[in-house]
Amino acid sequence: MFITFEGIDGSGKSTQARLLAAHLEKLGHEVILTREPGGSVGAEEIRALVLEGDPARWSSHTELLLFTAARRDHLERVIEPGLARGAIVVCDRYVDSTRVYQGASREDLRRDVDALHALMIKREADLTVLIDMDPQIGLGRALGRGGTEDRFEEFGSAMQVTMRSAFLSLAEDFANRFITVDGNRSIEQVADDVAKRVLERLPT
Ligand code: ADP
Ligand code: TYD
Repeated sequence: MFITFEGIDGSGKSTQARLLAAHLEKLGHEVILTREPGGSVGAEEIRALVLEGDPARWSSHTELLLFTAARRDHLERVIEPGLARGAIVVCDRYVDSTRVYQGASREDLRRDVDALHALMIKREADLTVLIDMDPQIGLGRALGRGGTEDRFEEFGSAMQVTMRSAFLSLAEDFANRFITVDGNRSIEQVADDVAKRVLERLPT
């Protein structure tokens, strides 16, 4: 089973992906915890290219190609081999982030995102956990972390608001694979909710 976590910056995806992976391991499953952009050696190199430096460093189209190239490497080297041997793959962000960030932000590239996905990636998650979150709180948490991976966070709070509604509308479009959880609660409350709802969907 391929499980992805999605949501705006600072919504708690990395925290919750880690807790879910630990929970599933305790239940005896083999779990691969990974993330995008990145997750394989080559894709982590591309991660630095897309997340660091001047926000205007890449055109929207070039950026879409870089995210897709990173995903293809990650898919070939980590996700598909893991799924093939029966592991549960838990991934912090995947193509829904591209649909939202590249598809709905600076230019409307959604059709190009879907076309490139159909050509180069093809695989969708089996289950996607959307952590829904107040955009202002999310931005505060993300900026509070500091660091140099801030090309997107520099786009600011208006973008967080747009991204949040784009995620919610994706969750409606793909209602059969999305679980939306309220991220405005304690880490433990969110984790309990995520574990319960994922276990309901896990094939036995
Ligand atoms: P994301 O991966 O979505 O950007 P993180 O999991 O990295 O989010 O969380 C961002 C920051 O917020 C971290 O410092 C984390 O410890 C904190 N955090 C995560 N979830 C919660 C929560 N439910 N309540 C308060 N703080 C949280
Ligand atoms: P991430 O490290 O998950 O950031 P955060 O922990 O703040 O949520 O992702 C970094 C940024 O990359 C984030 O702002 C969203 C962006 N991104 C895209 O624009 N397109 C993509 O396809 C992916 C996977 C991420």
